[in-house]
Amino acid sequence: MDAKSIGVYDSGVGGLTVVKAIMSAAPGWPIVYCADTARVPYGEKPREHIIRFAREIISFLAAQGAAVVACACNTSSALALPVVGAEYGFPVVGMIEPGARAAVRATRNGRIGVIATTNTARSRAYAAAIGRIDPLVQVFEQACPLLVPMIEQGEVSGGYVREVLSGYLAPLVRAGVDTVVYGCTHYPYLEDEVRAVVGPHVSLVDPAVSVAATVRAALDCCTGRAGVRSRTEAVSYRFFTSGDPEEFRRIARVLLGWELEAVDHVTFSAPRPCWGVQKGDKWDAAYDTRE
Ligand code: DGL
Repeated sequence: MDAKSIGVYDSGVGGLTVVKAIMSAAPGWPIVYCADTARVPYGEKPREHIIRFAREIISFLAAQGAAVVACACNTSSALALPVVGAEYGFPVVGMIEPGARAAVRATRNGRIGVIATTNTARSRAYAAAIGRIDPLVQVFEQACPLLVPMIEQGEVSGGYVREVLSGYLAPLVRAGVDTVVYGCTHYPYLEDEVRAVVGPHVSLVDPAVSVAATVRAALDCCTGRAGVRSRTEAVSYRFFTSGDPEEFRRIARVLLGWELEAVDHVTFSAPRPCWGVQKGDKWDAAYDTRE
């Protein structure tokens, strides 16, 4: 266990885009990453499930010694953090507020598009956060339910991806947005295809950079001088998945080009049966009836 580390979580490989940004904003800090791959995607699941998943994962990261947790999942940030974010004795940083700040800084015409999961888009969390910063900015949120399952398979380019993206982005292009926010941490993997659809003049905002700066500020604030770590210390990065560790390593290699050293398995509770108990696998036995 790392005595003091940065905990980061997502439903899958998306949060690794945030890990990358945190590595440069807080060099020398150990990171413990948790991918809830057994329960991905979060984008269509009921809010009570997302809240329960967040509590399970944040408690797990706390047990690993997290001094700060970054919720590298917009869906969990939008649905769970307003409920669970203040339940811990350490800061839990979400995606939405830092992402909203970055988007408002980027827009010139006051028309911002947000691509996100169905849950995040329906929550209107980005519209609310942007409205608190600048009520005159217009926000157009687009649900993109096909993207996360595609990216989790390592599919980030090609004709089909572009066709799907063109359909999702068309209403935003018609609305005349000059800025598109990745309202899901999986989407930066699609950067080339998004750029090809929206053209060169639209700003693409990845909230990860702003989130990493917020994490850094939270660390400095809650660890004080202890936050200044020696660069000579060996830094440990640990990865956990509730799914298959080998598959997670494979997809991370395809998407990021990284070879994750060690990926361990962690078990959480299973979703309720209305979302399909997966017959014949471990969820049958682990089937959770608590709610
Ligand atoms: N990366 C998560 C997000 O930012 C994906 C959620 C999902 O699993 O659908 O919303």
